[in-house]
Amino acid sequence: MAATAFGTSDFIVVANRLPVDVVKAPDGSLTWKEAPGGLVTALKPILSARNGAWVGWPGAPDVGDGPIEGQDMLLVPVKLSAQEVQEHYEGFSNGSLWPLYHDVIVKPEYHREWWNTYVEVNRRFAEETAKVAAEGATVWVQDYQLQLVPKMLRMLRPDVKIGFFLHIPFPPVELFMQMPWRREIIEGILGADLVGFHLPGGAQNFLYLASKLAGYATSKNSIGVRSKFGIVTVGFRSVRVGAFPISIDSADLSATAKLPETKQRARALRKELGTPEKILLGVDRLDYTKGIDVRLRAIGELYAEGRLDPERHVFVQLATPSRERVESYKVMRDDIERQVGRINGDFGRVGRPVVSYVHRPVPRRELLAFFAAADVMLVTPLRDGMNLVAKEYIACRNDSSGALVLSEFTGAAAELRQAYLCNPHDLEGVKNAIDEAVHQDAEDGKRRIRSMRRQVLQYDVDRWARSFLQTLAGTVDETPA
Ligand code: ADP
Ligand code: G6P
Repeated sequence: MAATAFGTSDFIVVANRLPVDVVKAPDGSLTWKEAPGGLVTALKPILSARNGAWVGWPGAPDVGDGPIEGQDMLLVPVKLSAQEVQEHYEGFSNGSLWPLYHDVIVKPEYHREWWNTYVEVNRRFAEETAKVAAEGATVWVQDYQLQLVPKMLRMLRPDVKIGFFLHIPFPPVELFMQMPWRREIIEGILGADLVGFHLPGGAQNFLYLASKLAGYATSKNSIGVRSKFGIVTVGFRSVRVGAFPISIDSADLSATAKLPETKQRARALRKELGTPEKILLGVDRLDYTKGIDVRLRAIGELYAEGRLDPERHVFVQLATPSRERVESYKVMRDDIERQVGRINGDFGRVGRPVVSYVHRPVPRRELLAFFAAADVMLVTPLRDGMNLVAKEYIACRNDSSGALVLSEFTGAAAELRQAYLCNPHDLEGVKNAIDEAVHQDAEDGKRRIRSMRRQVLQYDVDRWARSFLQTLAGTVDETPA
């Protein structure tokens, strides 16, 4: 790879997706809409504040000719062909890595063509980034779709400082060892100066693999939260490894939820739902990791046992379409929609379903009104790196009412200890948690929410980014000139 001329951006986020997706109209004209998922939610405010550049895929094949000067950032599209989208995004990223890193909830598939395209696409991202980075720039590479970029970028541009953050869980060593290209992935990530995970456990797994799989010397300390970083010695470089739990723009959410128009919309939603005593809510990308099926099964049984009352308790599930061309997502969607139909058939009346299901993204303002209206929030993933929805709900509960049912298998559970925690594999346990949350004592509920609000308001997304970037800025580059 040849050396590249310097660009002008001092701070660059590199993520598989741009913060906006392009939408191609039948007449060929292009419009943009907000891209889905927690990564975009978390990073957009940070980059807007720093006037940086964002390198990413525009969300559709064969789109993206040259950078676009956005309102508060430079957007640098990486153009992917339809085949690259299929093999890099749907294939290796979401057919191999996503299920492997989420405890093999569905079976990962490993195909050499997918891997080869993953390498090619990672190289293109590294090259595009090398073009726009100013001398000595800070580059922050995001997530599992781009694990080879740190090493590739370092080879092109040894002058830049490189951070890498994994937004999904880093799996147990025994599972990671399935990966046919396991050593290449570890080496790719180790091109960074700082490698971040949500939880100390993931960081520790990575440190172990850097030693056992790639043969590097590693520190022996146990890694803390935003502290006690691990060190991997890669040649003359020291790579730091740490845990930085991501968060949300809590103050902004809380303020928006407080606005009279949000409150009014929340009241209107309750009315539209038939003025029930309790609204239960689920908000997710339609993904098999989220345990939407688990909560539907639990709710169905609670209605059947009379522990929930169809006249007084309703459930709203907002599900953003996601990865719709991947087979396991199609199967899951059918299963969930069948369950919704069955529960409504058994317990609803004409004009009064007990489960209201929306398979569309909901505008941000409307979403906050749902959070403000919901008496019980159901977050039941089988595995989730963090889960921002849980934190968003807490931030929106300005009067400290409400209740959060939260799976122990989310990163958020490490911080939100006052939630009604449950094991999503234990159906009776999930049912009991929902039952307790629905019938909680109001004062006990307030105490729980207040304590979680303190956590969420104090550790917001700005603090997450600052702690990562300050650690990155402090890394000592011992590479000889
Ligand atoms: P993931 O990153 O796996 O999608 P997170 O819970 O961490 O999960 O983040 C999801 C983000 O997407 C949150 O900001 C959430 O508010 C948003 N989101 C999820 N579902 C919807 C929906 N149905 N409509 C609008 N936004 C949604
Ligand atoms: C999660 C991943 C992100 C991803 C998002 C949406 O948050 O960590 O990397 O962008 O889901 O998924 P999508 O496949 O639509 O980009």
